[in-house]
Amino acid sequence: MELYIDTANLDEIKQAHDLGVLDGVTTNPSLIAKEGIDYGKRLAEICQVVDGPVSAEVIALDTAGMLAEGRERAKIAENIVIKLPSTVDGLRACKALADEGIRTNMTLCFQPLQALMVAKAGAFLVSPFIGRIDDIGLDGMDLIAQIRQIYDNYGLPTKVLAASIRHPKHMLDCAMVGADVATVPFNVIQQFMNHPLTDIGIDKFLADYKKAFG
Ligand code: E4P
Repeated sequence: MELYIDTANLDEIKQAHDLGVLDGVTTNPSLIAKEGIDYGKRLAEICQVVDGPVSAEVIALDTAGMLAEGRERAKIAENIVIKLPSTVDGLRACKALADEGIRTNMTLCFQPLQALMVAKAGAFLVSPFIGRIDDIGLDGMDLIAQIRQIYDNYGLPTKVLAASIRHPKHMLDCAMVGADVATVPFNVIQQFMNHPLTDIGIDKFLADYKKAFG
């Protein structure tokens, strides 16, 4: 299972990269707005740190605008992936970019037929948003399972990138259901190696050792 970090903060990206298990980065307009820095400049900085896929989201809502933005962003670095909304215009842009050899990440996916359509259009990644589905009282994990099943049924190569992950249980459930990738905020990644019994065990081992050998 691949692990991406979901942030536009360079310091968090460097810290996650230093763990040695980071496979890519996703950004979005809200995340870059938080950083208050030019989007293109930050994407270039991120691509200096991470070799894996780095998603750059378009702002345009129409196919022509998405294509213009996407082609421009794709020039930043070879590992840039163009993030497009899962709309009809996004679908057309996805197909056009895929035909040009530009990889896409189809974002804001909330139902399985969006995932089927974007896979048929040649998307590299599809991003179902788990947390935002949970937020409206439904179960985001059901969507991951449905997309997994559909892609497996037809051997569709688009990767399922679980997004809008809010806590470690989301990550565990994604791994159990078979998401190919999860994109995770840094504060959640930091919890993945935590268990109080690990800390208690270390303390006890050291105390026993010190008692015996000083
Ligand atoms: C995915 O690529 C998005 O950037 C992200 O996961 C959205 O998460 P949120 O619902 O917590 O904003």
